[in-house]
Amino acid sequence: MSVSTEPTSAEARGSGSAPANPTSGTAPSPTPRAADGTGAEVLRPHAEDAFAGELAALAAQDDRPRPVRWKLSPWAVATYLLGGTLPDGTVITPKYIGPRRIVEVAVTTLATDRALLLLGVPGTAKTWVSEHLAAAVSGDSTLIVQGTAGTPEEAIRYGWNYARLLAHGPSRDALVPSPVMRAMAEGMTARVEELTRIPADVQDSLITILSEKTLPIPELGQETQAVRGFNLIATANDRDRGVNDLSSALRRRFNTVVLPLPESVEAEVDIVARRVEQIGRSLDLPGVPDGATEIRRVVTVFRELRDGATSDGRTKLKSPSGTLSTAEAISVITNGLALAAHFGDGVLRAGDVAAGILGAVVRDPAADRVVWQEYLEAVVRERDGWTDFYRACREVSA
Ligand SMILES: Nc1ncnc2c1ncn2[C@@H]1O[C@H](COP(=O)(O)OP(=O)(O)O)[C@@H](O)[C@H]1O
Ligand SMILES: [Mg+2]
Repeated sequence: MSVSTEPTSAEARGSGSAPANPTSGTAPSPTPRAADGTGAEVLRPHAEDAFAGELAALAAQDDRPRPVRWKLSPWAVATYLLGGTLPDGTVITPKYIGPRRIVEVAVTTLATDRALLLLGVPGTAKTWVSEHLAAAVSGDSTLIVQGTAGTPEEAIRYGWNYARLLAHGPSRDALVPSPVMRAMAEGMTARVEELTRIPADVQDSLITILSEKTLPIPELGQETQAVRGFNLIATANDRDRGVNDLSSALRRRFNTVVLPLPESVEAEVDIVARRVEQIGRSLDLPGVPDGATEIRRVVTVFRELRDGATSDGRTKLKSPSGTLSTAEAISVITNGLALAAHFGDGVLRAGDVAAGILGAVVRDPAADRVVWQEYLEAVVRERDGWTDFYRACREVSA
């Protein structure tokens, strides 16, 4: 059996909504409904909807200066991301768990004329942080361009509604603005995901936008000038380096903030436990009383294989081809909890996570399988108190 460990849309990443948190004093935000009139609950609410209660509480109590068109002061944006308790006792849940300074630099950058580039290996919460920053700064995280090898210039600049273009010729009416163009016109935060996957010539259309703060529309002899409040957050994957490296002209327009891997097992266990709890709640999984043991084991296995050495530093290991990120650990545990809840006795056991671990580690069936078998026999088998885990892994690996 292979269990996908990619974060899926069903992961409903942002939906650890404040109301369900018993320690939070914020008013419940209604469950966001689909805008198509069916009134169905959306699978994954945007951050600004999922955390509307927290954002409103912050706005109400935030008496620090706000940059033009910002919904919150930089201090309140940082508190939204890092968590804290407001003067009236409202608890703001932490969204990003990591060095405070990183968040402060990221938020500050958005208040300058430089754009923000979040850089890091996969699964270090680049997309997650970008979404929450946009939600807190502009109240809207949806002005987003997904970067791929096929992203056209129109996705960054503008396109045309061809029916109108043919009927009436080029006009503002026929122009279809990109999310970046809308952000410029409205003084909002635009997001570009996976910037380095975008072909270099298309990337370069950002240079004028970010340096001159204008978007020329030669077809109409017009331009759209960015109004105050506009800025842009891009994310890029460290591993993609060399695919479409950022040109130095473009890189100069960005302040780069590197999101690190969690520094210790404890930090990573904490991140996984918190996120799993939020996701489980949003998926209505029955609560599983204690997953701490398996979370620690999954995180330990992923870290050791990632680092190429056991946590005591004594044994060198080969690393598999997959990234084994925190995000993947979150997926493995969430899948395991669903198994335990629906088919087990309600306790998360080694057997519930084994298949997920195998799926995450063995990406390349030939080479990774050997790495995994060696690790299993040389490390897991010998480890005190890990017998059940070893057996469960053996069973799915056979
Ligand atoms: N330091 C962290 N703090 C909070 N959540 C984290 C952290 N690291 C990873 N995550 C979680 O990992 C998941 C995937 O992160 P994502 O933003 O998609 O990664 P990236 O874009 O860097 O590949 C998110 O659900 C996020 O909550
Ligand atoms: Mg991402």
